[in-house]
Amino acid sequence: MGISGVKFDYETSVVSQKQFNAHIKLYDGYVENFNKIERDKNSLTAEELGGANTTYSAARNVGTSETFALDAVILHELYFENLGDSECKRSEKVDEILSKNFGGVSEFSAKFKAAGLAARGWVVLAYSFRAESCNIFAQDAHDAGVVHESRPLLVLDMYEHAYFLDYATDKGAYIDNFLLGVNWAKVAERAAKLQSLLG
Ligand SMILES: [Fe+2]
Repeated sequence: MGISGVKFDYETSVVSQKQFNAHIKLYDGYVENFNKIERDKNSLTAEELGGANTTYSAARNVGTSETFALDAVILHELYFENLGDSECKRSEKVDEILSKNFGGVSEFSAKFKAAGLAARGWVVLAYSFRAESCNIFAQDAHDAGVVHESRPLLVLDMYEHAYFLDYATDKGAYIDNFLLGVNWAKVAERAAKLQSLLG
């Protein structure tokens, strides 16, 4: 049981290699911790299971830590995968999605940037199966603000550890550079998988 981490060994124009490498180290820690939590969860004793409560208990510790760690792993993988450079171009399909849901590419960018400035953790462009539309969701933590029954297309890490070495407190410049360096081919690939699910 357990999960293996993904190796990310490319360069991006969004952040420096030093910043990227430091971030990957954090991601590796989430993978390691998730596996440790899984082991601990599977070895809870009958006494610990019986003593579960919402204030302080072993069952609570593994339960809340598990969602935090796994959401952290998934969100980081989605984020690292959609980091590209300024050479990356949007496909017609991606433009169509942005136009249909946000009124155009520049309108989407303005809304995505605002969500980034407002979020403490993540910004996720995702298709909501319930709302039947693409939305920009702001999350305050890995496990806070996650919208179930949704499919992420583009993910931005807004934790300071993602950009501070390069941008210090200039979040706006980080988001602008992110939007100029999105790996749109990856977004298009996710959109194609979504389309196959929608039928
Ligand atoms: Fe991060």
